[in-house]
Amino acid sequence: MLVAYTIQEVRDWRKSHKHADAVLGFVPTMGALHAGHGALIERARRECDLVVVSIFVNPIQFNQLEDYQRYPRTLEADLAFCDQRGVDLVFAPSEQEMYPEPLDTYVEVQRLTTHLCGAFRPGHFRGVATVVTKLFNIVQPDRAYFGEKDAQQLAVIQRMVRDLNFPIEIVPVATVREPDGLAMSSRNQYLTPEERAIAPILYQGLQAALELARSGERSAKALVARARQVIEQEPAVRIEYLEVVDAQHMQPVEHIMAPVRVAVAAWLGKARLIDNVFFDPAEKSGPES
Ligand code: PAJ
Repeated sequence: MLVAYTIQEVRDWRKSHKHADAVLGFVPTMGALHAGHGALIERARRECDLVVVSIFVNPIQFNQLEDYQRYPRTLEADLAFCDQRGVDLVFAPSEQEMYPEPLDTYVEVQRLTTHLCGAFRPGHFRGVATVVTKLFNIVQPDRAYFGEKDAQQLAVIQRMVRDLNFPIEIVPVATVREPDGLAMSSRNQYLTPEERAIAPILYQGLQAALELARSGERSAKALVARARQVIEQEPAVRIEYLEVVDAQHMQPVEHIMAPVRVAVAAWLGKARLIDNVFFDPAEKSGPES
């Protein structure tokens, strides 16, 4: 496994390794790798000839300096994690390498970013879309893997690739959970043991909404009320948003007629946790995520 710290090293590696028909799979990450990232990497390893992982804590997608500064950085363990999974190249640039000067050019995906995290984290998705564009231009993958855990991010990247004609196939990967249902996240480390014990309530709330939908309920209000009822049993959890949105454009719906996501963000102590489930009214029971 090669570790590249500069853009030039990635370009040189690509020239010597990417032969005519070789399929290049790419997994962008911010490091502090866990089994959720592992699922993306393992899927890429199975489906592609070459696998590149990037590890870069992207300053322009954080709204708060404090959140950026305390974000876990575990490069050595991350490199071992990638090596064990047969990654060919890790790109781990410095902030200076990615942003040698302030940008004048950004990529902004509209509409899909008006609700959910987009409403509460101004500039976040602009930072994500911009860094992913830069990474796509540096790595030039054929396929890129994104987790459904961050469903709005996934939708934003899919839209960006369509709108701007990136020759890249975006592959969604189902959310990986702890045995008690908590979605794996680098931010789970911020939870105290007490908060960690409470955290699965978010997924339990979403599951309750999903069950109601599967039993035939089509009112978004009713689903939200059901999920709230479960989550609010834990007074330590502060819900930031809990919404039913259409799965493609991430816009709120009242009546469910097409695939939706029930999505939640909540604060538990110092940690902001997000999670979502997918429901397709055309299927008796939609694919779980
Ligand atoms: P990060 O939070 O490190 O996540 C990297 C990728 O792993 C994302 O596609 C995310 O959805 C996926 N992922 C995280 N937890 C997961 C889980 N429990 N199950 C399945 N997939 C999971 O998302 C980012 O980094 C950044 O915004 C990035 C795209 C790298 C741009 O900076």
